[in-house]
Amino acid sequence: MKELTVRVFRFDPEHEREGHFETYIVTVNEGARVLHVLHAIHDGIDPTLSYRYSCASGQCGSCAVRVNGEPVLACMDEAHDGITIEPLNLAVKKDLVTDLVPRLEEIAYLLPKKETVLPKKADIDAMKPLRDCIECLCCVSVCPAVDVTKFLGPTAMRQEMRLALDPRDSGDRISDAVREGLFTCTSCQACWKVCPKEIEIPGKAIEKLRAHAYKRGFTLPRHREVAALIRETGRSVPRTTESFLERVGEVIEPYGPVKATVGFFIGCMYNLRQQQSAIDALEVLRRNGIRVIIPREQVCCGSPLIRTGQLDYVDTLKRRNIETFTSRGIDTVMTMCAGCGSTLKNDYKTPFKVMDINEILTKYGIEPPARLPIKATYHDPCHLMRGQGIRDQPRELIRQVVDLVEMPPICCGSGGGVRAGNPEEAAALGSRRGEEIQKTGAEIVITSCPFCEFHIAGHTDKPVRNIASVLLEGYREKDRKKGMRAGH
Ligand code: FES
Repeated sequence: MKELTVRVFRFDPEHEREGHFETYIVTVNEGARVLHVLHAIHDGIDPTLSYRYSCASGQCGSCAVRVNGEPVLACMDEAHDGITIEPLNLAVKKDLVTDLVPRLEEIAYLLPKKETVLPKKADIDAMKPLRDCIECLCCVSVCPAVDVTKFLGPTAMRQEMRLALDPRDSGDRISDAVREGLFTCTSCQACWKVCPKEIEIPGKAIEKLRAHAYKRGFTLPRHREVAALIRETGRSVPRTTESFLERVGEVIEPYGPVKATVGFFIGCMYNLRQQQSAIDALEVLRRNGIRVIIPREQVCCGSPLIRTGQLDYVDTLKRRNIETFTSRGIDTVMTMCAGCGSTLKNDYKTPFKVMDINEILTKYGIEPPARLPIKATYHDPCHLMRGQGIRDQPRELIRQVVDLVEMPPICCGSGGGVRAGNPEEAAALGSRRGEEIQKTGAEIVITSCPFCEFHIAGHTDKPVRNIASVLLEGYREKDRKKGMRAGH
């Protein structure tokens, strides 16, 4: 047996306008789940505590709550001392019980064809990854698009795709999905990462539905324009000034001994919009023994096409990029853009290893920069944190140069083609990010993705800096102090 102290959200709409937290001390068995803790409170301390459960074995989805902010199934999640238990981020009826009905009623159901059709094994196999949903609504509770648009949410899209694959269904699932907000998804992947059944909704439902929508002519005009630009120029943003590739040499040697050689996949935004961040990164890499090869012929990774379902030119881009790096014998390709890195790692089959710059710098270690007297907050790019699982490395680097104050890891609204296709939604999510930044009291915002850098800058009055630029500032400060000492 063990004793646990837990905080539990309580809310009785008949007696209070807002909820509050109560602290309870319970004694439960070793390995007890969160649900056992709730039983212990209900049975031994306060029988008015309301919570929902049925199967107690991860099958029905009814017990979903947030533990320390993360949606989980209470019956499957092990309870630990000091945890905070709250309802999902949905309308709360009482204590931990949320109102699931409005959301569940929106999920489509099968409309049988008049004739009898039996699914083939291939149909069943195709539907399988989308069939495991237990309708816990964890995904809906974390979806940024649901918060600011009329999007029906991830599991509604999952169901539309599942029905689109079912030969027994007579509905027009593609136009239904478009009407229900298919193009409002920012590809942040929060839904997939919290799903207790690990259903890959962004890749297996959203992007597939968008690919069908493309064939049916539903693709948003701005997304079609981006696709045309990529075909024409190899890049997803128009050229306005000298590109990064034109500004730097093809091989950048480090100042000291070579610790590693990497190919640099620059990506459209760093090549054509945020060149200074990439130039700062080169300086940081030179200083830390990384030899960088920057092939000229590289093109867009294809992410803007893949995320919006416009797939017919993607293989051409992939072939060109892979050939560009393999023809130079490069065995490690470094990305600096979170979206490009996620695409190269998850949507390509590369004969070389792909590593984000934060992975490279933490793997080989960096010369300590001078500490800057700045309080900074860090924005986790969705395609870095969820798309590549990179959360700790940027923090390890940032903490060497400034004081870091954390904020919730929410989407800034720039991904999935939303900034181009649904600017109002992108602005609403950007403002929400701006409010969180404000709450931290930080003087600057640091991030590690050009799309986030660009988008957040429009929604905060704080300077938005790339990690590489902040590290470089630390090195410059170090050199300045050294120079002053030498001068004396
Ligand atoms: Fe059924 Fe938890 S009670 S999934």
